[in-house]
Amino acid sequence: MRRPMVAGNWKMHGTRASVAELINGLTEQNLPTGVDVAVFPSCLHITQVVDGLAGTAVAVGAQDCASEAQQSALTGEVAAAQLSDASCSLVLVGHSERRLLLGEVDELVARKFAAAQSCGLVPVLCVGESLAQREAGQTLDVVVAQLSAVTDALGVEVFANAVIAYEPVWAIGTGLTASPEQAQQVHAAIRAQLASKSPELAGKVRILYGGSVKAVSAAELFGMPDIDGGLVGGASLNADEFGAICRAAGS
Ligand code: 13P
Repeated sequence: MRRPMVAGNWKMHGTRASVAELINGLTEQNLPTGVDVAVFPSCLHITQVVDGLAGTAVAVGAQDCASEAQQSALTGEVAAAQLSDASCSLVLVGHSERRLLLGEVDELVARKFAAAQSCGLVPVLCVGESLAQREAGQTLDVVVAQLSAVTDALGVEVFANAVIAYEPVWAIGTGLTASPEQAQQVHAAIRAQLASKSPELAGKVRILYGGSVKAVSAAELFGMPDIDGGLVGGASLNADEFGAICRAAGS
């Protein structure tokens, strides 16, 4: 049995005051013990969130890291070693907003993945197709290529300490959730690709769904056999809504 995970990606949101409010709201949630819960604040607020959630079971992650693992002369970047020092335990790599708006390519994503693991962080590899790619029938090819970029560079074994998030670009921030069947089809393909190299590992790796997840849609999505939880954007900025999504993963 895979332990479900629900992660909140706060993206470029939050002020010190609104983050303090969100932390308070999270500490008041009745979070299920059978679910790994994590939040990914902006880098600026990581320390505030780590301190504010100390003593809870909520893990803190970063939304990105540099491709260089260690501190160096790289203006504006944050090293995985620094995130680890700040008590982060996870880091998103390859989010579609970074791939599409900031030009991150597969090769860079693989280097960030490796940098994260070399510092003991668990990378959450984000993959997903655009609307045009889905309409052209390329969904599985796109997702397989994004996953292969990491397994070809680093080997399949790296997924023993990693999480995958399938986030169709057309579902992110649009209110258009993939149907449970659409998401399941891609999750199963991701698992099958890993299974072709290591069936044992494929059975253990957690694959999260992301894209307009809300409390009302969560239970049905999380009920699918290969969906092991969610990576939640907008809805994770509301502690009650996020708490409800976490509870849906625990039921
Ligand atoms: P939304 O839940 O706002 O669609 O965002 C999903 C996402 O990109 C999480 O990483």
